[in-house]
Amino acid sequence: MKKAIFCILLLLAGALACIFIQRGARRMPDALSVIHNRKSVRHFTGAPVSRADLDIILKAAMAAPTAVNMQPWSFISITDRKILDSLSGVLPYAKMLDKAGAAIVVCAVPAKAFRSSAEIAVIDSTCAGENILLAVEAMGLGAVWTGVYPEKDRMDAVRSLLGVPDDIIPLNVIPIGYPTSQDKPKDKFKAKNIHWERW
Ligand SMILES: Cc1cc2nc3c(=O)[nH]c(=O)nc-3n(C[C@H](O)[C@H](O)[C@H](O)COP(=O)(O)O)c2cc1C
Repeated sequence: MKKAIFCILLLLAGALACIFIQRGARRMPDALSVIHNRKSVRHFTGAPVSRADLDIILKAAMAAPTAVNMQPWSFISITDRKILDSLSGVLPYAKMLDKAGAAIVVCAVPAKAFRSSAEIAVIDSTCAGENILLAVEAMGLGAVWTGVYPEKDRMDAVRSLLGVPDDIIPLNVIPIGYPTSQDKPKDKFKAKNIHWERW
């Protein structure tokens, strides 16, 4: 009898543990929903983004494909309110940084790229940038690619504010935060942009 009660209690404890673990875990949408729902988010609540979440996002960034697997990139992960505000002040099209909870600057590193090519470093790092946008969407956060490269004045501003060396290319600044839900995905599918079999 005692054994039966013990087993029932054990089962109950297991079931409760499963419920709590599921509640704590993030529900991830499927890959195609993430791709189709990704949108530029420019309106944030102002809530901070945790380092744990940024680690997940950065891991997604580094899962991107690169020519000859050279991974010619570096990332600056920013959570400091003062730095976010300073970037917002110097980048005319990234004002939303003042409400973002964090930002990631994707940097292309030509010296690490296949044939030390700056072009290939930029292409590879762009793949990482898109992975960041998709991971953010999957996690229920919001982000927008704000352009830095190839605008010289923006590259200079980011280099001087964040101490980025001259041989490193700051590709973008990606503000990340909790969306206010004002921003919606656009339907950009156009059949006329597709050529079947040949141009
Ligand atoms: C190379 C590049 C540079 C961009 N620069 C900016 C920018 O400086 N500021 C901004 O608000 N959005 C910027 N965007 C986001 C685009 O405006 C946005 O992706 C486009 O309008 C399509 O909207 P969607 O992302 O919601 O699909 C940039 C996107 C790319 C790919």
